[in-house]
Amino acid sequence: MAADQAVLRVPPPLSAKVVGSFAYLTVKDRLPTILTKVIDTLHRNKNKFFEEYGEEGINAEKQAISLLSKLRNELQTDKPLLLITDGLQDTESWNQYMQRQQRLLGDQDTVISWFKSAWLYVECYMYRKIQEALILNPPISNFDVYKEGKTQSFFESQQAVMALCTYLADIHKNMEKLSKNQLFEFFNKLLQVSLWGNKCDLSISAGQENSQKTSPIDSLNSLQPFILVDDSNMVWSTLTSSQRLEVSGKNVVERVDIVLDNAGFELVTDLVLADFLVSSGLARQIHFHGKCFPWFVSDVTASDFQWTSRQMMAANHMWMSKSGVRWQRYLKEGVWCYHDHPFWTQPHEFCDMAADAPDLYATLREADLVLFKGDLNYRKLTGDRDWSHTVDFSTALRGFGPAPLCSLRTLKANVQVGLQPGQGEKLTSQDPNWMTSGKYAVIQFYSPQPE
Ligand code: F6P
Ligand code: MG
Repeated sequence: MAADQAVLRVPPPLSAKVVGSFAYLTVKDRLPTILTKVIDTLHRNKNKFFEEYGEEGINAEKQAISLLSKLRNELQTDKPLLLITDGLQDTESWNQYMQRQQRLLGDQDTVISWFKSAWLYVECYMYRKIQEALILNPPISNFDVYKEGKTQSFFESQQAVMALCTYLADIHKNMEKLSKNQLFEFFNKLLQVSLWGNKCDLSISAGQENSQKTSPIDSLNSLQPFILVDDSNMVWSTLTSSQRLEVSGKNVVERVDIVLDNAGFELVTDLVLADFLVSSGLARQIHFHGKCFPWFVSDVTASDFQWTSRQMMAANHMWMSKSGVRWQRYLKEGVWCYHDHPFWTQPHEFCDMAADAPDLYATLREADLVLFKGDLNYRKLTGDRDWSHTVDFSTALRGFGPAPLCSLRTLKANVQVGLQPGQGEKLTSQDPNWMTSGKYAVIQFYSPQPE
């Protein structure tokens, strides 16, 4: 299918379907539900704002709630989207993007409204408007309305985190003696743990608890049939590519970038994978990319990143705390680096990155491999278009390819490319919700042609 034939997806119809033990709500339900939770969180923190800032704090809370209630009403009644007015670094770019969306509609007289615009844009816009409601109301501008949920998700996954850190410690003990095959086996397992870690996000369950309780390693075999595309061999080949032979004869890539998704258990799985990559010598440096402000309920911000590694260090479990200590050291020594860039909290498809965020594109070009975590990144990689399932991943990327890249994603939205002929149809007949339930996953790789 040609790129211009694949249409942008608009919000799906109002409905709620029960998948497993969670009620996965579709967009028109989920977005107001998220707004209601945000309002409730602000209200519950009223006393805290008073203690910290006195009357000023209470007034700010009231004003923010009033803006958010207005936003919820506009959403539910399909009102036109309004410009962002908080004068932040990205405000101009958001407002220009609105004009772009207007042009996409092809008719200057049609207003961009909540239900008549591209779903990707509308969803991102809601999170940016929540941020605006806080920014416009100092002194509570920096309050993270999703912090409680992220913290809870981390603590509720403790058993799984302990099991994972113990597993990592065993690998560390034998690292020197591992054969290439054994290394590959551990790599595969930890890549899959990071993949399935993506099941635990809070935006799909509209903020409901969604954590990992069992040992993630033990579940891998039973989850294998749900990986619809598995390009892990290509990821491994990239990491062990012979072009990068060191003088010692050891294969090593300089740099792996991880575009993070959710805090809580998923972040721990990413850090464990990153730890394995550097401690095994498969990579020299890891660059993490997180969000500049709270986003899609559970996404990682700089504060979540720091908080997680400090919590690990302080944990009352030997292998968790040893992992945390090592991670702090990696950060201090520059083996690991954390970055954020406003582009990650904008609605753009990634094929726009080279033109709209050339500095970020140039940064990613320095990587030997970029791992994109999660569903939202997949939607942005593929432009969230209504592609035929058999379209190549490379076609759907539409020129985006700063470096070899791999998407590690559990399916939560109606877009999936790179399947075998008939595979999508078969899945639809067996399980009509296969694209949105988070039950299936892909490890999907692409490498740009050398220049
Ligand atoms: O489907 C719900 C949703 O909010 C999607 O819009 C979004 O793509 C996804 O959840 C977020 O998931 P992830 O955290 O994996 O990016
Ligand atoms: Mg997320």
